[in-house]
Order: sequence, then C-alpha cells, then structure tokens
Amino acid sequence: MVLLEIVSRWLHVGGAIVLVGGSVYVRFVLMPAAARLPDAEHAQLRESLRQSWAKVVGIGIGLLLLSGFFNYIRAMGQKPGGLYHGLIGTKMLLSFVVFFLASALTGRSAAFENLRRNSRTWLSVTITLAAIVIGLAGVVKVIGRGTPKANDVSHSPSAVSTAVADTASR
Ligand code: HEM
Repeated sequence: MVLLEIVSRWLHVGGAIVLVGGSVYVRFVLMPAAARLPDAEHAQLRESLRQSWAKVVGIGIGLLLLSGFFNYIRAMGQKPGGLYHGLIGTKMLLSFVVFFLASALTGRSAAFENLRRNSRTWLSVTITLAAIVIGLAGVVKVIGRGTPKANDVSHSPSAVSTAVADTASR
C-alpha cells in the first residue's frame, strides 16, 4: 500500500508538472513566437499543435483525477479535520474549472470557439487557477491536517526514524 501511495503521489505531482509547465510554455513562449508567422502558417501550426497537446491534456487530466481521488481516500483514513475538507474541496472545485478550460481550449467543440478565439486570455486564466490549486496543495500539506501539538510524539523525529526502521525490518 505504501508503494501504491508513493506511485500515486508521483503520478499526481508529475501530471501537474507536465500540464502546468506545458501550458506556461505554450502561453509565454510558443504563442508570442507563432504570432510572428504569416496567417496561413500560423493557423496550420496552431491546428497541428492543438491535436498533439490535446492528447497530453487528456492523459494528464485522467492521471490527476485517478491519483487525486486515491490520495483523497488515503487521507480520509487519517481522519483529517474540517479545515482539510474545506481546503481540499476548494482545490478539487478549482481543478475541475482548470480541467474544463484546458479541455475547451484544446478541443474542437463549436460551443467553445469564442474561448479559443481568446486563447491568450483564457490560457492565462487557466495557468493562474492552476497556480492557486498548487498553492492550496501546499497549504493542505503544511497546515491542512492540523499542526502537531508539542506532546504529539507521532510527528517527532524519533517517531519518524522508528517508523522507517519498522518498515525496513518488515
Ligand atoms: C489542476 C489540477 C491539479 C493540480 C495542479 C494538483 C496539484 C497537487 C500537488 C502539487 C499536490 C501535492 C502533492 C504532494 O505533496 O505529494 C497535490 C496533492 C493532492 N491533490 Fe491535487 N492537483 C490537482 C488536481 C486534483 C484533483 C482533481 C484531486 C481530487 C480528485 C486532487 C486531490 C489531491 C489530494 C487529496 C492531495 C493530497 C493532499 C494531502 O493530503 O497532502 N488534486 N495536488
């Protein structure tokens, strides 16, 4: 189970790095460079990039959802308090908005053509929301499960080394 938890966190953080990093690259490097191309070439490049990036976005969203729900179920086992639920709930809702925008921007649905026409703005909104999601993940990690009390031995360095030694001796 420990191995599964490590793999899940690895996929979650890895998926976030690829999706958010890729979006930053598209918005701040590719788009300004492509804008200097003649219209026909620009349109051709945009369509070819959209097709490839849509696949990465689809796989990334799938991995983030799977690993995210797994992380959540595991965290529930530790019975975290109300603050944890509030922060994680907000993180999930914002993630769904990020997923929606990323899918609409890379999709072909005519309903979201307007969004794609303003892709610079909407990609910036997507990146900003994703940055907030990452910030919330940090807050959850540091204070979300409650600050350990001074007499709470489960967080002390000696308790950690005992747990590591226990795991290693199994
Ligand atoms: C834009 C999408 C997302 C991004 C960028 C993102 C990013 C992150 C990051 C960086 C972490 C910290 C990982 C760690 O410390 O090991 C994390 C943790 C977590 N994420 Fe996400 N995530 C996203 C979507 C989701 C979704 C959709 C869910 C739930 C379905 C979810 C649930 C969780 C949970 C439960 C944790 C563990 C929090 C803890 O107890 O420490 N995430 N996320």
